[in-house]
Amino acid sequence: MSESTALLNIGSLVTNDPALGEGALGIITGGAIVIQGGRVSWVGRSADVDATTTVIDLEGRAVLPGFVDSHAHLLFAGDRADEFAARMNGEPYAAGGIRRTVTATRAATDEHLAANLRRLAAELRRSGVTTFETKSGYGLTTQDEARALEIARSVTDETTYLGAHVVPAEFEGRPDDYVALVAGDMLHSCAPNSKWIDVFCDEGAFDVDQSRTVLLAGIAAGLAPRLHANQLQHGGGVQLAVELDAASADHCTYLDDRDIEALAASNTVATLLPGAEFSTRSRYPDARRLLDAGATIALATDCNPGSSYTTSMSLMIALAVRDMHMTPDEAVWSATFGGSMALRRNDIGRLSPGSRADIVSLNAPSHIHLAYRPGVDLIDRVWQAPLTPKVAA
Ligand code: NIG
Ligand code: FE
Repeated sequence: MSESTALLNIGSLVTNDPALGEGALGIITGGAIVIQGGRVSWVGRSADVDATTTVIDLEGRAVLPGFVDSHAHLLFAGDRADEFAARMNGEPYAAGGIRRTVTATRAATDEHLAANLRRLAAELRRSGVTTFETKSGYGLTTQDEARALEIARSVTDETTYLGAHVVPAEFEGRPDDYVALVAGDMLHSCAPNSKWIDVFCDEGAFDVDQSRTVLLAGIAAGLAPRLHANQLQHGGGVQLAVELDAASADHCTYLDDRDIEALAASNTVATLLPGAEFSTRSRYPDARRLLDAGATIALATDCNPGSSYTTSMSLMIALAVRDMHMTPDEAVWSATFGGSMALRRNDIGRLSPGSRADIVSLNAPSHIHLAYRPGVDLIDRVWQAPLTPKVAA
């Protein structure tokens, strides 16, 4: 029997299990958690904890499941601060900027890419993220995409092949040739280190038919689909995501009634990325309409050097509450349980017996402070269960 650790005297404990506490967040006041072998073995009130080998007194701090960042692009080199400054001076965001990062990424060594990834992974962890997804998408050759995913797979199980991010310069005017490469040789080189396949289905990137071709090829190769949809304009991306039972339709900035109905009636999570709207000074997605229709929302950082260069899930929660009219409870749920649903996982995003011991304590008495105290680093401690052993590539 491995050692057990008890976290005691938790001011407000978010379990995300309504059977364990109050409301949708399953909140226990004066709660405690026992951890054993990297898993939660018991959850309840501090007064009821049995003897354990190690006791940590949280002195009234809030505790919640580690954040699940289900959408990030961390395999890149270079920076595009100049584009951000230009946007804040009135320039619009365009998908074409991705090609600048592609040039810098292709020129970088494996060591440089790995070091940048580790730096961002450390930032995520410091900000309370215990599971993150990352995409390729800044290599756009078979070799560069495959190496990105191999590096990614060394730090997370949630890896996404995004060869269809944009058409690279050398395929200018020949998008269908590039789609054939992405759905053919490139896919087969990337699949061993990928769980997911994604496409940027939008203006300046790939249309619905091209996106469907790539996603179906990925599904046939054993990958599961997710999709960048409706970020820059109304279009067919959300409908395609639902048609293919994608785990997630990401961005969802421009939705019509049909899109909202389709998401609400599906198992496809709407992953909202308010960092992108913040950093591109765009309209925010209509989270309220999605929630009122019954859709499931995940919040994620979209961390990337172009449209959202942040690793802060606390900022996503604050933006979702202040600017997207989500309640603090809804936003915290979407940044934890919602993220787990967007990754089709049932071992994370909650703190109930059997779930991974991925836990965050706050220097605050409740999770509401994540939105109430914007811009303040409230993360006290982060417990993270070890990653499962990697499948050999
Ligand atoms: O999710 N939308 C596509 N991809 C990224 C942006 C990438 C970039 O600008 O470098 C996003 O916002
Ligand atoms: Fe993205």
